[in-house]
Amino acid sequence: MSLSLLLASNDEQFRELVRESLLNQPNAKLVSEYPDVAPNLYIRVLQDLERHPEAALIVDLSSAGQEESLKSLEKVRQAAPELYIIAANYSGDGDTVISTVRAGANDFLLLPLRRSDFRGAIERLEKAPRRTAGGGSRLGRIYSFVGTKGGVGATTLAVNFAGVLAQRKQQTVLIDLDFVGNDVAMQVGATAQYTLMEVGENLARMDQALFEGFVTRDPLGFFLVGPPDALEQQNYFSDVMLRDFSTFLVEKYESVVVDAGRAVANDVVLSALQASSIIFLVMTQEFPTIRNAQRYIAYLMRMGFNQDQIKVVVNHYQKRNNSNYATLEQIQQTLNQPVFYGIASAPAVLASINKARPLVSDRQAAPEWDKAFRAFVDKATGVRKAVAKTA
Ligand SMILES: Nc1ncnc2c1ncn2[C@@H]1O[C@H](COP(=O)(O)OP(=O)(O)OP(=O)(O)O)[C@@H](O)[C@H]1O
Ligand SMILES: [Mg+2]
Repeated sequence: MSLSLLLASNDEQFRELVRESLLNQPNAKLVSEYPDVAPNLYIRVLQDLERHPEAALIVDLSSAGQEESLKSLEKVRQAAPELYIIAANYSGDGDTVISTVRAGANDFLLLPLRRSDFRGAIERLEKAPRRTAGGGSRLGRIYSFVGTKGGVGATTLAVNFAGVLAQRKQQTVLIDLDFVGNDVAMQVGATAQYTLMEVGENLARMDQALFEGFVTRDPLGFFLVGPPDALEQQNYFSDVMLRDFSTFLVEKYESVVVDAGRAVANDVVLSALQASSIIFLVMTQEFPTIRNAQRYIAYLMRMGFNQDQIKVVVNHYQKRNNSNYATLEQIQQTLNQPVFYGIASAPAVLASINKARPLVSDRQAAPEWDKAFRAFVDKATGVRKAVAKTA
């Protein structure tokens, strides 16, 4: 019987030790790691349970303060009542164990971790009745678009992606986290009265009415919020705010689309990626872009992401053989990652940006591109199997 495990801890050494101990347990494998234990842990757990409904969670409660980590555990328990949870902590006194069990843990591991204790916990997990914890999560999904080089089309794809979802009557929010570029508003012709700065200031009392009062509603139906125009204000919106904000969004909206820009090592962007169901790495067939994509993937792996969260999208895709451009096979080989989709160039894309309306708002402007782009959205959202693989 094989076991899938999720592991949450901000202690790299603890995670390493768990990984090592699992080498001696061929029937158990780690399917996801979270480098912190924050109140939004449950979002990432739910997303992973969709892919691995039988997984169990190991959570290191010493990662945050006692109260905060118990709260995070409690939220996971509420969100996934059937999930088997092993909690770990340095203090094994009666009070700690009781409060941990009350917050929802099925088992307790004393830290520092001893291999024999770990083995025992895995054995108890094996004997525990199998329950399927995942599936049917009613949380919204976050789709992030990262550009691996300037101008590869991350903003354009994010804007049109949100446009298609809104046309499908999905409750959708588009967030621009490219604090330097701030191009989303420009591409959809919006002049925002309020920005992420006001969102940050009002998070404590945020509800749907307030949020929708703050943000711009695009004629296609999605809500849009982005950075303040003044560059000096960019540091105001923090990763902690982003985490609270994304928790609010996935509870209230079906889809959240993020233009993550290029700064993946920025704390705010990284937090958004950590809450994302899918990270689209947008690239082209040019060699410098591929090299950068390689660096981005390596970085994301180091940050604890797994390969199936990352989807490579080749924009300006051309099939024609040309020694200046890599083929999809070459890209796949270099990145050790399948290409999820290829999206062709179309002059109408540029025209639509000049008109400040997403191309998908006019289905006749470039019907073939439009059809292929919608097939990309289908494939990404799992609506139905995309017939055409490339545009
Ligand atoms: N598939 C496409 N066909 C034709 N033009 C495209 C396509 N995708 C993007 N473009 C054009 O490329 C330019 C750059 O696109 P975009 O601003 O979306 O890229 P980006 O990755 O967000 O860039 P930045 O690094 O500045 O944030 C735009 O003028 C856009 O019109
Ligand atoms: Mg951009």
